[in-house]
Amino acid sequence: MGKNIILIGFMGCGKSSIGIRLSYRLRMTVLDTDKLIERQNRMSVSEIFDRFGEEEFRGMETKCLERLLQEPEAQIIAVGGGLPLRERNRELLRQLGTIVYLRVTPATVCQRLSGDATRPLLQGADPEGKVRRLMAERAGIYESAADFAVDVDGKEMDEIRDELLEKLYETGWQPVCPIPAGGELQA
Ligand code: S3P
Repeated sequence: MGKNIILIGFMGCGKSSIGIRLSYRLRMTVLDTDKLIERQNRMSVSEIFDRFGEEEFRGMETKCLERLLQEPEAQIIAVGGGLPLRERNRELLRQLGTIVYLRVTPATVCQRLSGDATRPLLQGADPEGKVRRLMAERAGIYESAADFAVDVDGKEMDEIRDELLEKLYETGWQPVCPIPAGGELQA
C-alpha cells in the first residue's frame, strides 16, 4: 500500500497535530507509531527505553512499519522522531507512501518541549544541547529520506497543513476518497 502520507521530523515538530488536521481534511485515519507501540506493549515509550533500551525500541518501530505495510487502507502515519534513522525503516517508509519532513529549528523544539518528561532522549542535564546535537546528526537524514519538506517555525498549524497539501498534490498524490468542494470536516 503506497498511498499513505508519512510525517517525519524531530520531536516536537508537530507530526501528531498536523496529522490530525490532515485527517480531517482528507478523511483519512491517522496513527502514530509511538502510540501503537505503547498500546501493544502496555507501556509508555519512556518505560520501554528504561526496561529494554533504545535498540529494542528501534526494533519495535521496524516491526510496526512491517505490520503497517499489510494494512489495506491508506492512512496518515506520524512516526517517532528517531524512526527514519535506520536504513531498513527508510526503505519501509518509501514502500508505505509519500514521506513529508516537518522541518523545525532547535530553538522551536526547545521552546515547545521545555519541561517535557516523555522523551527519554532529552532527559537529564542540558536538554537544549541534546536537541542541538541530535538535530545536527539527523537533519541530513530527514532531508534525504523525504519526498519534500515543510518548514514549521512561526506558522499556524492550519497554514502548515495547507502548504503540505499543496506540495503533496504537486507530487501527483491523489486522495482515495475525493473531497467535494467545500466539504471539509470541522476539527
Ligand atoms: C524519539 C522520538 C519520540 C519517541 C522516542 C524517541 C527520537 O517520538 O519515538 O522518545 O529518537 O527522536 P516523537 O518524535 O513523536 O516525540
